[in-house]
Amino acid sequence: MKSLIDKFNRKINYLRVSVTDRCNLRCVYCTPIEGVLKISHEEILRYEEILRVVEVAVKKGISKVRVTGGEPLVRKGVVNFIRFLSKIHGVQDLSLTTNGILLRDFATALFDAGLRRINVSIDSLNRLKFKEITGGGDLKRVWKGTEEAMRSGLSPVKINTVVIRGVNDDEIIDFARLSMDNPYHIRFIELMPIGSTGQWNEDRYVSSEEVKNKIESFKRLCPINKKEGGGPARMFRFEGATGKIGFISPFSDHFCSSCNRLRLTADGKLRTCLFSDKEVDLKPTLRETSDNSSLERLIDFAISNKAERHFLGEKSPKKCSRNMSAIGG
Ligand code: GTP
Ligand code: 5AD
Ligand code: SF4
Repeated sequence: MKSLIDKFNRKINYLRVSVTDRCNLRCVYCTPIEGVLKISHEEILRYEEILRVVEVAVKKGISKVRVTGGEPLVRKGVVNFIRFLSKIHGVQDLSLTTNGILLRDFATALFDAGLRRINVSIDSLNRLKFKEITGGGDLKRVWKGTEEAMRSGLSPVKINTVVIRGVNDDEIIDFARLSMDNPYHIRFIELMPIGSTGQWNEDRYVSSEEVKNKIESFKRLCPINKKEGGGPARMFRFEGATGKIGFISPFSDHFCSSCNRLRLTADGKLRTCLFSDKEVDLKPTLRETSDNSSLERLIDFAISNKAERHFLGEKSPKKCSRNMSAIGG
């Protein structure tokens, strides 16, 4: 098996594939203030085009693939797409990140199609607050979806919670408690300045350290050494707990030196860093030639230009021009 190594000696083996920029929610930290500009249908890669990119990327050394959005489950045919993805020889870890709204109806079909694990975004356990944060989302529905995911055999089910001061920082212990009796991985994420959401404001940011201290005022956390799935979360658990607790700290403790990822946007651009606007457009090549060696060269070129790190928190917050929904987190 080949390896993709960048010039900082990082092994790139993880591809995040955004299948759509569309979403059925409007989360405050994700929705641009100027309104959502949708990518036109012709610009969006067809599933066959995405599969071709994945096949080429896997031959070059990608072994983990995550399907993202916008909200991936709103794109028609996504289950069948997952089925094809799961059959690509060399895709060893196939996962998906969702807001959970459609999960109740999709969980079993996703599992049957070959998906093995899932991450669900839940930022509040309070029905009204959840509605407010997500621009109208129904918490009950998302919980049903999350439970259904667990029942269907998807494992682990990870819950992503972006902590925002004055909004959900009073719920940290409630979230952490969920890991006591359920096998969920509860992951607290530092709010990142991305796109033009108008949400980024230093007062809103809560560091992982502060979150962890708050949890430990309730009960001590034991570190878990194993880095799971090559993801950026630092993992812990309460003694005797069924589930786990993780911290994703892009701001206070950036994980750039171990970054293993590459992103494919729904309109066919390869991005090598969440915070860098450098993109390599695969679409013309995908549409104009059936020769995969030119795609391989574009992947090599993108990786040779992967930024060493981001500078969040050091220089004045640099926002990237795409919004999170057009990158896929
Ligand atoms: P696993 O740990 O493999 O399950 O996945 P993940 O944590 O990479 O995926 P997920 O889609 O659940 O992302 C969780 C959070 O981590 C989101 O807020 C992402 O934006 C953030 N994140 C994921 N990858 C990166 C990255 O490369 N850089 C930064 N700064 N944040 C990232
Ligand atoms: N800061 C931190 N996390 C974010 N996400 C989306 N926008 C932001 C942001 N500005 C998270 C979502 C989802 C994941 C893919 O990215 O909550 O869990
Ligand atoms: Fe990698 Fe860029 Fe994320 Fe840093 S910010 S971990 S370099 S993708």
